[in-house]
Amino acid sequence: MSKEINAIGVLTSGGDAPGMNAAIRAVVRQALYKGKKVKGIKRGYAGLLNEEIIDMDAKSVSDTISRGGTILQTARCMEFVTPEGQQLGADICRKHGIDAIVVIGGDGSFKGAQKLAALGINTIGVPGTIDLDIACTDYTIGFDTACNTAMDAIDKIRDTSTSHERCSVIEVMGRGAGYIALWCGIANGAEEILLPEKYDHNEERLISQIINARKLGKQHYIIINAEGIGDSQNMAKRIEAATGVETRATILGHMQRGGSPTCKDRVYATTMGAMAVDLLCEGKSNRVVAHKNGEFVDFDIDEALAMKKSIPDYMYQISQSLV
Ligand code: ADP
Ligand code: F6P
Repeated sequence: MSKEINAIGVLTSGGDAPGMNAAIRAVVRQALYKGKKVKGIKRGYAGLLNEEIIDMDAKSVSDTISRGGTILQTARCMEFVTPEGQQLGADICRKHGIDAIVVIGGDGSFKGAQKLAALGINTIGVPGTIDLDIACTDYTIGFDTACNTAMDAIDKIRDTSTSHERCSVIEVMGRGAGYIALWCGIANGAEEILLPEKYDHNEERLISQIINARKLGKQHYIIINAEGIGDSQNMAKRIEAATGVETRATILGHMQRGGSPTCKDRVYATTMGAMAVDLLCEGKSNRVVAHKNGEFVDFDIDEALAMKKSIPDYMYQISQSLV
């Protein structure tokens, strides 16, 4: 028989992402709708271990759906990676009457949820990261907003790049994954998209393409470089030295993590947050909500963490052929 859930905890963990507040709001309001108490756990697993736990009601999440960041704050916590830290976390949940937790974060955060589930605290993961690097899902909270933010910034850089007839190396986030680079590369019509999953580090080829483009009268040359490749400042210097084309590097950085979430991020994050609560109320645990092949679904966390993801072949192909 599955245990009865009286109080649901919610936390955000790892890097923040626009739309996390929409997910928190949905968890809180759906839990209240189902007659459960809600406890907000501040600063991810670090806050759990420090017992930074607050009661939440419908008003606690008023005026948050349109706000970037996370009202619960987020953190990375090495102590929680240890078995002692996890046991302490589960004990603290029991002490505060928390029967179940919704964990909003990435793969690392899901590993923490997996450990809590094994210690008897029911858990559901909700994918929150701008990187889109969670294998079980085609969508992660914040990716859409981050891409739109980066796309707008790249459009602006393109204007000045064209005026000065420069080459621009623009570095976007994504940790080891190239999804933001791929989507922005396509959305901005970049001349070159460098993805960690695909790049062969053949700078000679890149340089001769820039020289050829210049001969053909191209007034700018936009290179979207993924953070996983990095080295953008030096790359720009090497390109300028080898091509004679003035080259600037811009690292977009943390601006990509902030800002008001897009409509898609608000709606998907809301749906996933509510679904997480519904799953807990059905007695489910150790599962993660996902959006796969156009549908909202859920997977066992162990299976989800074992899945692999790769850059979609056709999208990559057209990102190369349409330049
Ligand atoms: P993300 O959730 O975005 O992948 P991290 O990898 O930084 O971000 O993980 C966030 C937090 O999840 C870590 O700081 C840690 O507290 C917890 N975590 C990560 N890996 C584990 C693990 N193997 N076991 C338990 N907790 C983990
Ligand atoms: O995972 C989100 C992310 O923004 C990555 O794209 C990036 O590599 C990392 O977090 C940056 O982390 P921090 O904010 O700790 O520098």
